[in-house]
Amino acid sequence: MTSPNLFDDVRELPDEEAARQFSQLIGLDDLKAILVKQARLLLMPDLLDEWSRKHHNTVLPCVSDFSRRPPLIVFSGDVGTGKTTLADSFGDPVARTEGLAKVTLLRLSLMTRGRGAVGEMTHLVSQAFDEVVELAKKGTNSSGKPSSAVVFVIDEGDALAESRATEQMHHEDRAGVNVLIRGIDRLARERLPGLVVLCTNRVESLDPAVMRRAAVHHQFQRPSDGQRELVLRNALGETFGDSEYQDLARLTGPNRNGKKYGYTFSDITQRFIPNLLIEAFPDSPVTFELAKSVLDRLEPTAPFGLTEPETKR
Ligand SMILES: Nc1ncnc2c1ncn2[C@@H]1O[C@H](COP(=O)(O)OP(=O)(O)OP(=O)(O)O)[C@@H](O)[C@H]1O
Ligand SMILES: [Mg+2]
Repeated sequence: MTSPNLFDDVRELPDEEAARQFSQLIGLDDLKAILVKQARLLLMPDLLDEWSRKHHNTVLPCVSDFSRRPPLIVFSGDVGTGKTTLADSFGDPVARTEGLAKVTLLRLSLMTRGRGAVGEMTHLVSQAFDEVVELAKKGTNSSGKPSSAVVFVIDEGDALAESRATEQMHHEDRAGVNVLIRGIDRLARERLPGLVVLCTNRVESLDPAVMRRAAVHHQFQRPSDGQRELVLRNALGETFGDSEYQDLARLTGPNRNGKKYGYTFSDITQRFIPNLLIEAFPDSPVTFELAKSVLDRLEPTAPFGLTEPETKR
């Protein structure tokens, strides 16, 4: 049993909802393939030994270095580009590919941060790691291949992993970085089937000692024209023809109304499409004119940290 005050979500994968989330993420195919491979190798270092013996007749020296890497994955980048969704769902294909009985997804509760009392955050994060380690231990067995694994997601992790060099940083926050590093190192040292995924909008603020440990760092971007078109097609099916979809992709892109940035993925899925449905319901269908008029009234979300006057929504 995990403590409810430490984690704000605990899920067991594989499950259909995570599979759906994973498959609906657009434009991340290369990353998805690499991520699933990296996760398999971080969780099951023996797979690389087997590969090396099979293809090189020996275990290459670099193989053991590879498997000693800290099990940390960093997702950084713009708002609404899929960091949280991917962190929450990639355990699903990992579990399926390796036939693991389960991958437990634990999300660090926001409650563990910023409540002020000195020592509290550090204590809670350290407790969270204790539970992650305990759970990961249950997945190990003598065969070398784990029966289950743990993915520990620290979302909006900059609050915790912010650079220790930041001058105004309170002593308590610096301690948070140390606890994080110790937890990640512990998973690596004990070779447990556990992964830590840290998501942030502000990669530049992360402590270098945390970044140095990242086995994978991916920077997420706003969608391209083609990706926006695909998201729109996925949402609206046969409603429009090719040229209308291309127009909508252009209208949701950068360089409109003097803005250098276009819509994020979530601007389209969580703002534009719901607004469109609400306006059409109950008396009219979704039309191209209606879509254009909704877009005219909907500003793209400004990139994180941008404070130009044009940031109004
Ligand atoms: N690559 C993508 N393909 C399709 N839809 C996406 C993609 N990325 C994000 N979305 C849509 O946007 C929603 C929000 O995405 P998510 O919460 O994962 O973004 P995020 O990068 O974590 O944002 P934030 O920085 O604000 O936390 C998703 O539920 C999904 O509907
Ligand atoms: Mg997020």
